Amino acid sequence: MKKEHRAELIDNKSMNSDSSLLVFRCPEIAEESRPGQFVNVSCSKFLKRPFGVNDTDSINGTFSIGVREVGEGSAEIRSLEPGALVDVLGPLGNYFPLENAKKLIMVGGGTGVYPLHFALKEARKANVQTIYICGFRCVSDSCLVDECEAFSDRFMITSDTGDVGIRGTVMDALYRLNENEYNDATVLSVGPEIMMKNVSQWAENIGLDCFVSLERRMACGIGMCLVCTCKIKTKNHDDLYENKRCCADGPIFNSREVVW
Ligand SMILES: Cc1cc2nc3c(=O)[nH]c(=O)nc-3n(C[C@H](O)[C@H](O)[C@H](O)COP(=O)(O)OP(=O)(O)OC[C@H]3O[C@@H](n4cnc5c(N)ncnc54)[C@H](O)[C@@H]3O)c2cc1C
Ligand code: FES
Repeated sequence: MKKEHRAELIDNKSMNSDSSLLVFRCPEIAEESRPGQFVNVSCSKFLKRPFGVNDTDSINGTFSIGVREVGEGSAEIRSLEPGALVDVLGPLGNYFPLENAKKLIMVGGGTGVYPLHFALKEARKANVQTIYICGFRCVSDSCLVDECEAFSDRFMITSDTGDVGIRGTVMDALYRLNENEYNDATVLSVGPEIMMKNVSQWAENIGLDCFVSLERRMACGIGMCLVCTCKIKTKNHDDLYENKRCCADGPIFNSREVVW
């Protein structure tokens, strides 16, 4: 399947002080993407930059990504204007195993809310019950709040400053769930590594499966250069690990396999 595409930017909407939602026309990526996958977007730098797919619209042949500006590549991509033609590689990587989920608890932090938004919309289409928890530093960092609230059965937001939602971290929201709410759920988490580690420990302690999206610096994005390795436990050996390629073997891993 061809992965390299020429995509046209059709919308660029600011989400908060440092991130924007970019919508591209590219029917192939719109058709093939699954929640948890990412695309590699070209810029004037040598390497393309990876971004999780935020949404797709197969009728209009579009997909979107949320881009937070952290350096030159993301700043350039964020500043693209409608009509720009960009080389995009994708969809890349594996995806969340949503097929057999009876109930989903999604926990996102920062830009992790973008790929989880895609999972949330797919869960709604499949009539899977969802609890959606998102955490930000403060209200001006928050994004996709109304959309995610509308698509989830239970919605909670946290902020470090307390100027929106529960004051604290996503853990403070998770601790408010009772057994009836989390029983039989599968947990998905995307965001800062320390957050995903804490979320997975919470899930593992109460016997829930948890899938996390690991983030590594990437180059090729297709498993060829070995720049993006992460340590994943060898099957049935808790004390042994193998180096896996985050881009091709991941980015989604069962949290029990991750060496944090
Ligand atoms: C699978 C995957 C999905 C991603 N999804 C999103 C997304 O949906 N939205 C989004 O805004 N960003 C996402 N990212 C992160 C994004 O790719 C980087 O922020 C971007 O590549 C930075 O490029 P730059 O040229 O602006 O920064 P650079 O100049 O390359 O770096 C600037 C700063 O950002 C840090 N940085 C750069 N890349 C990463 C990275 N991958 N992980 C941690 N720190 C990094 C650098 O250490 C440096 O401090 C994702 C990354 C991966 C691997
Ligand atoms: S980025 Fe090249 S192998 Fe993952």
